[in-house]
Amino acid sequence: MRRIRVRLKDRSYDILIGRGLLKKSGELIRSLRSEKDAVCITNARLLRLYRKTLQSSLTKSGMTVRFERVPDSEGAKSVRIAASLIKEISIYDKRKRLFIINFGGGVVGDLGGFVAAVYKRGTPYVQIPTTLLAQVDSAIGGKVAIDLPAAKNLVGAFYQPRLVISDIDLIGSLPARQIRNGLAEIVKYGVIKDRKLFTFLERNYRKILEYDENALTHIVSASSRIKAALVEKDELDRTGSRAILNYGHTIGHAIEAASGYSNKYNHGEAVAIGMIIASKISLRLGLIGSEEARRIRNLIVKLGLPTNARGLHYKDVYEAHLHDKKFIHGENRFVLPVRIGKVRLVSNVPEAIIRRVLREELL
Ligand SMILES: NC(=O)c1ccc[n+]([C@@H]2O[C@H](COP(=O)([O-])OP(=O)(O)OC[C@H]3O[C@@H](n4cnc5c(N)ncnc54)[C@H](O)[C@@H]3O)[C@@H](O)[C@H]2O)c1
Ligand SMILES: [Zn+2]
Repeated sequence: MRRIRVRLKDRSYDILIGRGLLKKSGELIRSLRSEKDAVCITNARLLRLYRKTLQSSLTKSGMTVRFERVPDSEGAKSVRIAASLIKEISIYDKRKRLFIINFGGGVVGDLGGFVAAVYKRGTPYVQIPTTLLAQVDSAIGGKVAIDLPAAKNLVGAFYQPRLVISDIDLIGSLPARQIRNGLAEIVKYGVIKDRKLFTFLERNYRKILEYDENALTHIVSASSRIKAALVEKDELDRTGSRAILNYGHTIGHAIEAASGYSNKYNHGEAVAIGMIIASKISLRLGLIGSEEARRIRNLIVKLGLPTNARGLHYKDVYEAHLHDKKFIHGENRFVLPVRIGKVRLVSNVPEAIIRRVLREELL
């Protein structure tokens, strides 16, 4: 088992990565010497697959657990569902020492983390991420949120978990499209910070797509380390260090918005296209060499991620990108690669270049 420490003073915690961790989760959580009555937020699919393992591990370690099932979709990150969870928890909470376990992908993690942040002004919680995306990204860093009709993640907090348990074996039941969803974020880590990770992906993509546990352990560990380091530097996303995690996301979010958040492009697929667009913009600005840009595109192809957004009109994506909530006073800001392993934050990219690259790349 690998252990990565996220150092945030009194909010520090470990990320544990390895195989067979779910059946040890009881002892791993117990070793925090914390609360003993768990409310586990999860969904029906995960309960079907893993309830027995999780429940017996927790009870063997002297804990009680109550499962709270939420719908299996982004729609679960709603005010209505958060409020009903809070109500259920408050009824159940009598004479207990309660903590929350989020057992699921990013949806469960964000929703359960939000509930933990606000219930009694903060209740301890543990993340047990079950998707590749959640293991390498959403379960780490304490950004928790629910959605409003106006925009995703509009109501939230920074609230760190006590522990993150990433069991690589859970990836085994994940559909291939969900693996690729997470891989897009891992490509992102390679481009922004870790040339070696990028090369590892180039050399081992077949093994990874065949669920090879050693390769998966390696890329989850390398990615978690990068995310943890950026969170340590910039816990509240204020100094700019954490901003580089947005590589591929400016246009990625615009693609998701322009396609109405439908199933046509999931987050990772949209980000993959966004990463290609950003590297093309970088190429046009003379910041990156063509060979490096080509490697980024080739890896995305090898991983079976899309390279263009056929079916979407470039104008719709362009319009959507203008509403990016990270743009300040209407000034655009892109994370652009200068070589694999290094990016730069660039503001005021000429609109003509963005439009041109979108027109060329989206068709
Ligand atoms: N907080 C952050 O920093 C952060 C970062 C990135 C994304 N997010 C959020 O994460 C969410 C997306 O997360 P996601 O991609 O994990 O999607 P998800 O949580 O919807 O999970 C994807 C699908 O996989 C299923 N699933 C999960 N684990 C499984 C397993 N082990 N075996 C079989 N099926 C399994 C789920 O039931 C679901 O149908 C979005 O809401 C996004 O806003 C948050
Ligand atoms: Zn992302």
